[in-house]
Amino acid sequence: MRISLAPMQGFSDRIYRTALSHIGGVDAYYAPYIKIEGGQIKPKSLADIAPDQNAGMTVVPQVMANTSADILQVAESVAAMGYAELNWNLGCPFPMVAKRQLGAGLLPYPAIIDQVLTEYEAQSDVALSVKMRLGYLSADEVWPVIDVLNRHKIKEIIVHPRIAKQMYGGEADKSVVPAIIAKSAHPVAYNGDIVTAEQAQKMMADNPAISQLMIGRGLLSNSFLASQIKGVETNIFVKRNQLMGFVGTIAEKQLDRLQGAGHFLQKMTTYWEYWSQMFADAHRAFKTVKKCRSVEEYTDKVQDIVLGWEIVA
Ligand SMILES: Cc1cc2nc3c(=O)[nH]c(=O)nc-3n(C[C@H](O)[C@H](O)[C@H](O)COP(=O)(O)O)c2cc1C
Repeated sequence: MRISLAPMQGFSDRIYRTALSHIGGVDAYYAPYIKIEGGQIKPKSLADIAPDQNAGMTVVPQVMANTSADILQVAESVAAMGYAELNWNLGCPFPMVAKRQLGAGLLPYPAIIDQVLTEYEAQSDVALSVKMRLGYLSADEVWPVIDVLNRHKIKEIIVHPRIAKQMYGGEADKSVVPAIIAKSAHPVAYNGDIVTAEQAQKMMADNPAISQLMIGRGLLSNSFLASQIKGVETNIFVKRNQLMGFVGTIAEKQLDRLQGAGHFLQKMTTYWEYWSQMFADAHRAFKTVKKCRSVEEYTDKVQDIVLGWEIVA
């Protein structure tokens, strides 16, 4: 079973991906989308996928754009870095993005998708995969989009079965997956609301044709989820050691990257909203980290938690 890490802007950067790769179980890491502003690629986005910073991992860069020119520009840049695949974001739900016909905002416009793909194919050898929601305003939008995708060379479509208006609320509609697999001419990957090994196994058993499972928040809140899905059992001593290494390297590298203790503590607090869920008393673990006022206090408290508190992951 192939498992990939979903792109998560602000969380799944090269530092996080590398630390997670040391725990294992993840076969591919989709990087958060490369930003283009005023026709220019943001250098920070490219720095995140620098090959020497992503050693030993299969990383797939992602682009969010609505013109072939922008996608081609990014494809050329990532090809120069050695990448053979680019993922096209047709799922971002945020109104600021979607209103500009980007991300999920492009789903009601299959004719634009068609045109972009026709122009792209004629000019690039970088394989394109697509990550999409079911729609922007309605889940019916998915069918004309799949019709269009079927006419083009697409490596894989990764489906997150929500509409943009749901943001991350409500439930992902897992029941639509068989119909998408039946209609798509391309391999179909599933993404959305997989937080336990049992859910992953059920999804694969119900839909054996799925090409891979992409997991986002489930992996953020349980760093062991991918290996658990693969049936790896880790004893508690190894688990605590791996977790210490994981949170320790992320802290060390983020402290180097961010200016000042304030920014560092803020960043770590956003991670601990998820990481705290690996502990029986998640609420208290999160509050303990949130209250830290210095790097030293953070280090002490996190060591207490990781090495001493009951783990439920
Ligand atoms: C904080 C955050 C940032 C995200 N950033 C991206 C992104 O850059 N590109 C993208 O395609 N999806 C992005 N997503 C969506 C996830 O990749 C994924 O589709 C979504 O979280 C559903 O999967 P999950 O239930 O396994 O988390 C983001 C989600 C979250 C929560």
